[in-house]
Parts: sequence; structure tokens; C-alpha cells
Amino acid sequence: MPTLAWRIPDTRRLAGLAALLIGASATAGLLVSAAVSLWTAVVLGVILILAVQLATARGLQRALEEERSHQQALGELRSVLPLRLPLPQMTGWAATPRLGVEIVAQVLTRQPKVVMELGSGSSTLLTAYALEKAGHGGRLISIDHDAHFADQTRSALRDHGVDAYVELRKAPLIVQEIAGMRRRWYDVSAVADVQDIDLLVIDGPPEQSEVNARAAAFSVLGDKLSPGAVIIVDDAGRPSEKQAVDTFVASHPDASVRWITTAKGIAVITLGSRSSAR
Ligand SMILES: C[S@@+](CC[C@H](N)C(=O)[O-])C[C@H]1O[C@@H](n2cnc3c(N)ncnc32)[C@H](O)[C@@H]1O
Repeated sequence: MPTLAWRIPDTRRLAGLAALLIGASATAGLLVSAAVSLWTAVVLGVILILAVQLATARGLQRALEEERSHQQALGELRSVLPLRLPLPQMTGWAATPRLGVEIVAQVLTRQPKVVMELGSGSSTLLTAYALEKAGHGGRLISIDHDAHFADQTRSALRDHGVDAYVELRKAPLIVQEIAGMRRRWYDVSAVADVQDIDLLVIDGPPEQSEVNARAAAFSVLGDKLSPGAVIIVDDAGRPSEKQAVDTFVASHPDASVRWITTAKGIAVITLGSRSSAR
């Protein structure tokens, strides 16, 4: 999941486009006169070069702002959590530091007894540290479909000495009926016994597993949330995730949503203390 590449225009492609346009205009101009052709080519070339430079500068500025925000969030995590080892990489597929800050803040302020997470990784580690620090007896149930990544997370939890706070369950992605539709999602039997979720973090399954891969979480787990529960949705900037959040909030009259602007987008939904589906 590239976070920077899309912000910076592909200059080779733009240069190719510029060459094509200049060539086309020069050829067209040749039909009129050589002088007009040259002049048109120069003007178009200058405009295109300026446009590329402007787009590149804007892309770099956004990338720099995001990098600053990552660094600030990492600093906050380091100052709040008693980290015993360096954190794993928090770019690409992993939770961003900003998502980590939101999860940690929710654990420390709300002291949820039951935290559930879809998609394990750095977020699992940070949640476990926050549960350790809060010391209120909360636990995390983390779901992962992939044995390799689940094992990687398990071993990171052990290395950091916070494995006691987490139950990591492997649940394969299977096609099953969810809310009257055939959906590919985690085997629902893996969450059948879970009740009274106070904090739900939706960061899986990966988008490639199905269109609207994350929407099923609301259908399967919506009834398992405790009053006043909080749901954190990563990648909420994607249209399908945004729609899933909007649909859920619209059907829960006393729920509110806070959108956090990042490259991927984060939504934080808070249910009212008497919230139930409309
Ligand atoms: C968005 S990731 C979850 C990230 C996790 N919350 C974290 O903080 O690292 C969703 C799923 O993708 C899988 N995954 C993680 N890293 C991956 C990678 N580099 N390539 C492919 N799949 C990956 C894992 O199975 C994970 O459960």
C-alpha cells in the first residue's frame, strides 16, 4: 500500500506526454508555418514544465507534512508507552503511528475490558502495551487470516513481553453467508463466543480479499458491541469503507463519527450508551 508514490506525479510519464503534445503541435504547426510551429512548441513546453514542477512541489509538501505527522505520532507513542524494544516498521501494510496513537488513547482513557481487532501486526503490539499500562484487566482478541503474519505478531508480542494481554486467533477467509449475502470474510465461528466488545479496531481483511472486505465486520460484530463502544476503522478514506461507516452510523441514531485525515483515512465511531440498531 504505497502512501507517497501517488502524491508525487510520475515525471517520466508527464515528460512523455509533454513530448507527445509538443510533437503533435509542431507537426500541426508545420502545416501552417515553421515559425508558428516553433513558437507553439516552446510555449507548450514551458507551460508543461511549470505544471510538472508545481505538481511535484505540492506532492512533496504533502509527503513532508505526512512524514512530520508520523514522527510526531511516533514520539507520542514512545513517550506514553513503556516500550522495551524498538517498534516494528509502521508503514505500508502496518498500522500508521497515527492509528496507533488513536488506539492507545482510547485504551488509556476508556479502559475497555474487551478489545477486538481485525488484522494483526504493530497495532496488536501497541494495544497490548496500552492494556499493560492501563492495568485494568482488559484483554485483546486479535484476528488474522494469515498464519505467517499471525506467527510474526505472536513472536513480537512475546519478545516485548506483552503476550499475556492478547489472544491471537487465526481465522481463514471463507465464503459464507453474512447478512443475507455471500461474503468472503473471516470464518465467523472464530468470533462466535465474543461478547461485549468495548473497542473494535477494523484493519482487516485486506482490500484484495473482496470488494467491501471490511463492511462485513459491522454486520457480524455490530450486535456484539457494548453500550458506548468505540469502533476505529483504518483505510476509511476508501469509498467502500467510508460507505460502510456512513451506513452503520445512519442506522445507529446515537452514534457519532470523527474522521481523522491521513493518507489512508481513519474513522472513529462512538456509540451512545443506549445505542442499538434502528
Ligand atoms: C492492513 S493489514 C493489518 C495491519 C495491522 N493492523 C498492523 O498494525 O500491522 C491486514 C492483514 O494483511 C496481512 N498483511 C500484513 N502485512 C502484509 C504484507 N506486507 N503483505 C501482505 N499482507 C500483509 C495480515 O494478514 C493482516 O492481518
